[in-house]
Amino acid sequence: MTGERRDAVSRPARKGIVLAGGYGSRLFPLTFGVSKQLMPIYDKPLIYYPIATQIMAGVREILFITTPEDRAAFQRLLGDGSQWGMAFSYAVQDHPRGLADAYRIGRSFLNGAPSVLILGDNIFFGHGLQALLDEAAGQPGATVFASMVSDPSRFGVVEIDAAQRPVTIEEKPVAPRSRWAITGLYFMDGRACDIADEVEPSARGEIEIVSVLQRYLDENSLSVERLHRGFAWLDAGTHESLHQAGEFVKTLQNRQGLLVSSPEELAYRHGLISLDGLAELADRQKQSSYGAALADLVAHEQGNG
Ligand code: TTP
Repeated sequence: MTGERRDAVSRPARKGIVLAGGYGSRLFPLTFGVSKQLMPIYDKPLIYYPIATQIMAGVREILFITTPEDRAAFQRLLGDGSQWGMAFSYAVQDHPRGLADAYRIGRSFLNGAPSVLILGDNIFFGHGLQALLDEAAGQPGATVFASMVSDPSRFGVVEIDAAQRPVTIEEKPVAPRSRWAITGLYFMDGRACDIADEVEPSARGEIEIVSVLQRYLDENSLSVERLHRGFAWLDAGTHESLHQAGEFVKTLQNRQGLLVSSPEELAYRHGLISLDGLAELADRQKQSSYGAALADLVAHEQGNG
């Protein structure tokens, strides 16, 4: 069954938000002139990776939230999304007010639809991702994705019981109750905007996503999907992690000869663009190894690879 048909049968029309503002201060001086989310992760801009996750999540309409200064650069890179069979729109966040601010800025875009919010610097890659996303799409309420980390105090942390249900969630706890970090990918039902409107800023002055999630937890409608051992959840927030993410993608792609998180490839595989459309996209960038990899994919799909 193709991705499109599966969408039509079982998924509500979820809309996507990619939150790509912020100062990127841990990447200074790189981010004095360019948004973090436009930095290269080996052969493609960082923002391509969360877009790839959105395509896999069944999303066809995405709102990109950027700083006012960077908006034009994102639009130049991504356009209206039609090249990938999608619809993109843009909004600005003039100050990084917190992750849940995305639901306030995105209210008219979402217009009551269920959503997938992803942070613009989060990379998800690994076996079983599609199944996890499919499962989350079918769940009511809200779903978070948790990954085991060695330093949970730096993250939002979810405590999970034996039945795999969330028990507590805390933002950057001093004494974490588990090692399960909440990653930057959130599925929410159509109430998220109303809930975000009611959230009071935290002590650090941010509209916290954890406050929104707490509301779902209180009414027993929060689910957790765990990212298992060997699954890659990377963010590119520091010089070290930016470099490591690039190395990771380079190693995997060169070893396997397969692209990691290519929106063009995923748009084709999910039935959003035709093979001819993919060939055109490959041709436009044929001078680069990325374009060559897309051309290889086209040849393979035509039976010549
Ligand atoms: P962070 O890494 O917390 O913040 P940042 O990107 O500004 O970086 P730094 O801490 O180095 O200053 O943000 C995670 C992601 O969420 C990142 O992609 C930016 C985005 N973000 C916003 O767009 N708006 C916000 O209000 C916040 C808090 C984050």
